[in-house]
Amino acid sequence: MYYPDHLIEEVRTKNDIVDVISGYVRIAKKGSSHFGLCPFHNEKSPSFSVSGNRQMYYCFGCGAGGNVFTFIMEYENFSFPEAVKLLAEKAGVTLPEVEYSEEVRKKENKRAKLLEINKEAAKYFYYQLRSERGRNAHEYLQKRSLTTETIQTFGLGYANKNSDDLVRYLKNKGYDEALIIEAGLASFHEKYGTSDKFWNRVMFPIQDLNHRVIGFGGRVMGESEETKSIPKYLNSPETLVFDKSRNLYGLNFARTSRKNHVILCEGYLDVIALHQAGFTQAVASLGTAFTAGQANLLRRYAEEVILAYDSDEAGRKAILRAITILKECGLTGRVLDLSPYKDPDDFVNNLGALEFEKRISEAQNSFFYELSVMENGFNLNDPEQKTRFHREIAKKLCTFSEDVERDNYLEAVCEKYHIGFENLRKLVLSYAAQTGLAVPITRPKSGTADKFAPESHAMKAERLLLTWLSEEPALYAQINKYLTAADFSAGLYQKAAAKLFADFEKNEVNPAAIISLFIDEEEQREVASIFNTRLGTLESKAEREKAINDIVRTVKKNSHDKITKSLGNDVNAISQALEGRRALDELLKTNIKLP
Ligand code: UTP
Ligand code: MN
Repeated sequence: MYYPDHLIEEVRTKNDIVDVISGYVRIAKKGSSHFGLCPFHNEKSPSFSVSGNRQMYYCFGCGAGGNVFTFIMEYENFSFPEAVKLLAEKAGVTLPEVEYSEEVRKKENKRAKLLEINKEAAKYFYYQLRSERGRNAHEYLQKRSLTTETIQTFGLGYANKNSDDLVRYLKNKGYDEALIIEAGLASFHEKYGTSDKFWNRVMFPIQDLNHRVIGFGGRVMGESEETKSIPKYLNSPETLVFDKSRNLYGLNFARTSRKNHVILCEGYLDVIALHQAGFTQAVASLGTAFTAGQANLLRRYAEEVILAYDSDEAGRKAILRAITILKECGLTGRVLDLSPYKDPDDFVNNLGALEFEKRISEAQNSFFYELSVMENGFNLNDPEQKTRFHREIAKKLCTFSEDVERDNYLEAVCEKYHIGFENLRKLVLSYAAQTGLAVPITRPKSGTADKFAPESHAMKAERLLLTWLSEEPALYAQINKYLTAADFSAGLYQKAAAKLFADFEKNEVNPAAIISLFIDEEEQREVASIFNTRLGTLESKAEREKAINDIVRTVKKNSHDKITKSLGNDVNAISQALEGRRALDELLKTNIKLP
């Protein structure tokens, strides 16, 4: 913990979650909760709920959830201590600086310093672009059709031809040379000393969700012979504040664009040109390949990703890779056809926004895109090759785990490629028999609490039980005879249960406080979802009573099965198992009553 628990609790209780969230999102009271449009994903009808009683929020659409701290962390892209600080200031709570451990304080200080340095550097580049020395650069950007307003919005700048004046400027401002190097803005050579990393380039500051500059991309101007030998783009290295796999260029603007899709491009200039043309939902990865981390980030804002990569061979390869990643993260992909142009920037500058809009609506479903790439490898006039192509299609259809989806695609494929439905279906079934159908995709550990994540039956029951208990604490007295925290799945579930049960013993229930006990942001989200798991609507009391009995028994039974399975010759374990058996038998005979 960065701050003592009691202080964190003080800050939390002094910031009513309904008040705080009202400052960011329009919410209206409905029943015991407030509802509004979720700020973490795109939606048209409100599924974002804020509960004043529980001091938690939860989105039934995307699974984002937590307490007032996690809200600020997600919304502002703050770290936990930053969120605590902001809310402490708001509520007039003084936080002691000394409570940081030495190591944590150093790291936080360094992060803050690196962000400051980046901001200063961005200002410097920005100023240079507007000075006499930046005239060429300015003309270059104009030649690329960027308006003054666009240049301003994206904070574009210029790193001039001198090899060390940014270093000198920053040193004058009091920053350490070592830190300037660590920020990725300079490098040290035995022979030449410390020199700027970027020179004679137009500069693209890269901002995080909260518009803070975390790195830079720099482009050489023009494509002349003399620049051919140096890389066209130079990017900041990863630093303490710049994680390329978890940020996207333009997302700070795109996230409020309120479209149900985002456009994913390859280059900074593509993003800028698209924004200028009104497509503020465009983003790009940061001079590296698209990652699962970025896909998960996108999942908070959109359901569909339109791929607008270069229309060359490298672009096609990158599209296929991106499609796989999107699929694994549960996002739909469509591929935009940019021909006859090379990239989105080229396209909008030549054909304009309306044509681009049209291409968006015509963008090809990613599965068909994959098939059309595959098709190129076969000569369909040759019956032998055609058969092989159909076999490949059948194999690919096996990758859909859901019957309905697979059948829909099967139908569409048959239509498109003029294949007999039953024939292809047989082929699919025969492949499925050999290799099995795809199992539902296991998503990578993701940012938001994941409503789609395959979770064990046991965990589902545990979540339901913990949510239920936190809402009806009176139940605790009836179940504590049978269950302890040890009956829950190891890790987060066990920890959360232990804390909740301890709270019950002290007669104070406070799930919102439990969330803050976990430092890691992902953990906080997961704990939030543990306390926000809903059963379907159960009308009658009898139904609800049956449900709670089933849930408690399931949790106990799973725990008991686990213990007996791992039983060795350990006497303690055996007696624990016997104890569990007794409790379980008794539980099966008991009927827990709802208050
Ligand atoms: P491209 O090289 O495809 O851009 O780089 P382009 O369309 O020809 O030239 P501009 O951008 O329109 O002037 C696309 C993206 O790939 C990364 C950068 O992020 C760039 O925006 N890149 C490219 C690098 O990181 N390094 C390079 O040397 C080239
Ligand atoms: Mn381009």
